[in-house]
Formats: sequence, C-alpha cells, structure tokens
Amino acid sequence: STNGGMTVAIDGPAAAGKGTVAKAVATHFGFAHLDTGLLYRAVAAKTLKGMDPEEAARTLAPVDLEDPSLRDPDVAQEASKVAVIPAVRAALVRFQRSFATRAGGAVLDGRDIGTVICPDAPVKLFITASPEVRAQRRFAELSGKGIEITYEIVLDDVKQRDMRDMSRDQAPLKPAADAKQIDTTEMAIEDAVAAAVALVEAKQAER
Ligand code: DC
Repeated sequence: STNGGMTVAIDGPAAAGKGTVAKAVATHFGFAHLDTGLLYRAVAAKTLKGMDPEEAARTLAPVDLEDPSLRDPDVAQEASKVAVIPAVRAALVRFQRSFATRAGGAVLDGRDIGTVICPDAPVKLFITASPEVRAQRRFAELSGKGIEITYEIVLDDVKQRDMRDMSRDQAPLKPAADAKQIDTTEMAIEDAVAAAVALVEAKQAER
C-alpha cells in the first residue's frame, strides 16, 4: 500500500498495557483503533441481562459499545466466559476484519488479533507483564474510578481470566509466531509505546 495504511495487531493478557499502546500508536500514525475486548464485554453485558450469547453477538450494534457498565469487573469476567463460545467469536469476525482493512490504517488490540483475526498483519505485538503488576495497575485504575474492590480480588480476577483465555479451544490467548513480545513488568509504558512506534516505522520504510 502507498497510503501508509497498515494493520497493527496487538495481543496480550488483561491489563498488560496493550490498550494504552494501541491508542498511542493509533494517535501517532493517524490510524483507527478498535479495542476488541469491548465487543466481548458488550456481548457479556447483554447476557448478564438474560440474552442468549449467540443472539447477543449477532445483534451487536454500535450503541451497545457505549454502555458505561462495560468496564465493570463482573462484565470482564463474563466477557471471558462468553468468549469461549465458538458461535460468539464467529459472529464478531467479519466486523473486526473489515475494521482491520481500513485504507487509513488500523490498530486492533485483543487476544487473537495476530493469530486469528489478522494473521497477515505486518506488525504484531504481544504485550505481557506479571499478573501481580497487571493486577496492581488494574486495581489503581478501578479505584480511581471509584469502584470499590480489593487488590486480592483484582489479582484473582486477572488470573482466572488468563487461565480461561489461554486454555480455550478456539483462538486461545497466545503470541503469534511472528509477534514481537514486549514485557512491561519493569518497563515504563512510554518505552513500550516507543518500541511499538519504532516497529511500525520500520515496516513503513520497507514498503
Ligand atoms: O481486553 P479485555 O480485558 O477488555 O477483554 C475482555 C475479555 O474478552 C477477555 O478476558 C477475553 C475476551 N476477548 C477475547 O476472547 N478475544 C479478544 N480479541 C478480546 C477479548
């Protein structure tokens, strides 16, 4: 492509910093950004109200992504549960792939972007950090929003989701063979952003 547009796939476990890196890369290059976890959270918000998961995924509409409850820990846990259902994942593929091929470039972050949704993405990152550091960050974020929760509960939640996301049959959380891994346990998030930006620039220079 000659317009600088490209697909950047960013995967990793909860609260590793992938959302922050994805947003910063998108802003830097003027690419569109899709937080794919939000799709699963929006399905979860509907199943928590009693809707069938497959039905919820098939009928997902843009307005569903604006539900303020999507950031709640119980919705995150339910999102990880509905995400094991193959029909739910299948219903969300087309939207994600069409987003990924936008002419102006796109950054998608999630669990299976580099492995399943965009296996041909020229730039793939897998962002990790220890469960304790991730729980600490998520705890600070939730507390800052006035959500009452303890560090122990957040750590437990993070570990349970990691386990479920990594062990499911379809599209389990794992790095693509050609993904660059970034461990943010002892790294400032700005350094992770800088590494990601450098990688995209290197790819653009090749084209
Ligand atoms: O990124 P997140 O924490 O908002 O994601 C919530 C859950 O959704 C996560 O625990 C697993 C699921 N998910 C998925 O299975 N595939 C994706 N591409 C993104 C999220």
